[in-house]
Amino acid sequence: MKQFIQSLPKVELHLHIEGTLEPELMFELAARNNITLPFKSFEDVRDAYNFHNLQSFLDIYYQGANVLITEQDFFDLTWAYLLRCKNDNVVHTEIFFDPQTHTERGISFDTVVNGIHNALSKAVEELGITSQLIMCFLRHLDEESAFTTLNQSLEHKDKIVAVGLDSSENGNPASKFERVFKAATKEGFLAVAHAGEEGEASNIREALDLLQITRIDHGVRCSDDESLVKELAMQRTPLTVCPLSNIKLKVFDNMEEHNIVALLRKNVCVTINSDDPAYFGGYMTDNFMAVSNAHEMSKAEIAQFTFNAIEASFIPQREKNRLMMINKAYLENN
Ligand code: HPA
Ligand code: ZN
Repeated sequence: MKQFIQSLPKVELHLHIEGTLEPELMFELAARNNITLPFKSFEDVRDAYNFHNLQSFLDIYYQGANVLITEQDFFDLTWAYLLRCKNDNVVHTEIFFDPQTHTERGISFDTVVNGIHNALSKAVEELGITSQLIMCFLRHLDEESAFTTLNQSLEHKDKIVAVGLDSSENGNPASKFERVFKAATKEGFLAVAHAGEEGEASNIREALDLLQITRIDHGVRCSDDESLVKELAMQRTPLTVCPLSNIKLKVFDNMEEHNIVALLRKNVCVTINSDDPAYFGGYMTDNFMAVSNAHEMSKAEIAQFTFNAIEASFIPQREKNRLMMINKAYLENN
C-alpha cells in the first residue's frame, strides 16, 4: 500500500506555505537575517511542537514565520515544499499564504507574493508541478485589516485565484468577514474558508451561507449534524480534510476515530491534505498512510480521495479531465 500511495498522482488543496517551514530552514533563515531564535537546537524546536489545541499551535506558527524577511526567503520556503511535492508525486497544489502575518511585521505584500510566485513558476518548468495561490485573511484580526489586505492584492490578481479565512476559529465568526468576502468575490476571486475544525458544525453552515465559498477547509465537525452531512454529500461541497493536523491539534483522539473514511462512504467530497506539515509531522504521503493504516480501505477508495481533490480543485475543466484520466489509468494498472 505504501508504494501504491507514494506513486499515486496526488492533488493538495489545503497547505499553508508558512506551515512548511522545517526547523533546519528556520535556523538557516534566522542566521541569514540575524534573528535570535528562542531554540538552541532542532530537537528544541520539535519538542516545542506539542500542541493541545489550535491556539497553542498558532502561537508557535506565527513565531516561526518571523524568520521570513526577504523575497529570497519566501522563494526558498516555497521551493523546499515543492521538492517535497515532487517526492510525494503531488502533481497540483493549491497553496495558502497569510499576507497579514508578514505585513504586520513591516514586510511588503509584494515581497511575499513575488517570492512565492517565482518558486511556483519555476516548479511548472522544472518539476512539472502546477499550482494556484490562495490568500487567507487572519480571522483574529479586524475587518479593516482584511480590507487593507484585499486592496494590496488587487495588483497581484494574476497570481492569486481565491481568498480564504484561517487562524483562530472560536470567537471569530464568518459574519465578521461577510463584507470583505463580498468585495473579494466581486473582484473575481473565488472563496474558501476554514470552518468546523474545532468550532461547531453551525460554523460550516454560516460560512456557506455568508461567504460565497465553494469549498470548506477542514469541516470535520459536520458529523455533529447529520442533516448537514446529507446536504454536503448531495451538493458535493468539498471538505479539505487534514488528518495528521486533526490528531496533533486534538480534534480527534486518534486516527481510528477520525471520520474521514465514514464521510467518504457517505459520498461527501472529502480530500486528504497536509495543512502545516513541518509542524504536524507529515506531508501528503504521510497523511494518506496514516489514514490507510488506521482504516481498512480498498485501493479504489484511496484513489477516490484524489478523484475528489481533482473535482474540488480550481483548475480548468479540460485539465481536470486530463488528471482524472491519468488517475483512472493508475488505478487500473496498480
Ligand atoms: N487552522 C486555522 N488556521 C491555520 C491553520 C489551521 O489548521 N493552519 C494555519 N493557520
Ligand atoms: Zn489550515
